[in-house]
Formats: sequence, C-alpha cells, structure tokens
Amino acid sequence: MRHGTRAGRWRAPPGTLAPVPPDPSGHIAFVGFMGAGKSTTAELVARRLDRPWFDTDHVIVERCGRSIPELFAAGEQARFRAMETAVIAELLDGPPAVLSLGGGALEDSGTRELLLARAFVVWLEVSWSEVRAELPSLMQTRPLLQDRTEEEIHALFERRQATYDQAHLRLHAARGELRAVADRVVAELAG
Ligand code: S3P
Repeated sequence: MRHGTRAGRWRAPPGTLAPVPPDPSGHIAFVGFMGAGKSTTAELVARRLDRPWFDTDHVIVERCGRSIPELFAAGEQARFRAMETAVIAELLDGPPAVLSLGGGALEDSGTRELLLARAFVVWLEVSWSEVRAELPSLMQTRPLLQDRTEEEIHALFERRQATYDQAHLRLHAARGELRAVADRVVAELAG
C-alpha cells in the first residue's frame, strides 16, 4: 500500500504545494486504528505541553451516561457517530488541546477535512500483524469488531489506511515505545 503521509515528516495540507510546519500553538489530534495507543500518547503529549487532553470516546461516554459497548449493543452506532462528529467540531472550536480520536473518526469526510484544516493530525500507525496479534483482546473490548471474521477486520483495517494516510505526520506506534513517540511529536512541534 502506498503511504502519502511521509513517515516522521509533516506534509502539505490538502490543496497546497509546500509542506508547512505544524503550528505549535494549535490543536494536536491523534488518529489511527483501534489499539494503536492514541489515548496514552495524547495524554503524554498533553502533559509535556501542559495542555488539556480530551479523548472523544471519554467525552461521549460521559455525556450519554453509557459505555460504548452499551451504545453499540443498543443499536445506537449511528448516534455514537453523530456524537463523535459533534464532539470533535466542538473541541476544535475550543482552546488548543491534545485530542485522541476513535479509530473510525476519520471515516466521515467532513470531520476529516475539518481536522486537517484545524489541527496538526498525527497518525499512530500499527501494522496488520501487530493488530492481528492483539485481536483476541481487541475483539473483547471493541464492539465494532465483535462477530466479525478476521478477514472482515483486515478489510476494515485496509480501508481505513487511506483515511489515516491523510494525516500531517505518520509515526509508527511500536508497543512499549509510546513515550518515545510522544517525545518525537513534541520535538516536531518545537521545530
Ligand atoms: C471505533 C474505535 C473505538 C471507539 C468505537 C469505534 C472504531 O476507539 O471509538 O468503539 O470505529 O474504530 P479506539 O480507536 O480508541 O479503540
């Protein structure tokens, strides 16, 4: 698969020619597949920068008083997606923060464009073999993966790569190395 996001380098925003450095005073948003370590890394970066950290899943759960598995089990996946879109737009309108997003947040093209225009978007990349090794635990905790075959999950993973690939920065999220990944993001922001 071709990767448009240059590993470890920021890239030009859509519609522009030259790469621009990230705005260190703006929002930073972490995207990537389930289990990549987005929340942990975002929290580390927020602490390092002394910024607020918001995890969109946490905000949604707090607002509707139900867990994500409960929402999905009740057939409210569409409601969850609508809330996800609204929460991201709301957070982007707020003071500069570090955001961790659910793995499906970039599937909505409006959300994707908004994020790319208003935040420095970092893709925490994991390989299929890493995801595959974690599947038993991911399938227990992520309702989207329940009752799906490995082939179906692989297809979802592949389809989403193209959305993550639009991020400004791509960093490999090796297990146990999220501190180093956070350091790298902070260094990129410092220029
Ligand atoms: C989802 C990922 C989850 C959560 C929800 C749906 C997805 O977040 O938003 O279960 O569509 O990939 P994580 O990526 O933090 O697991």
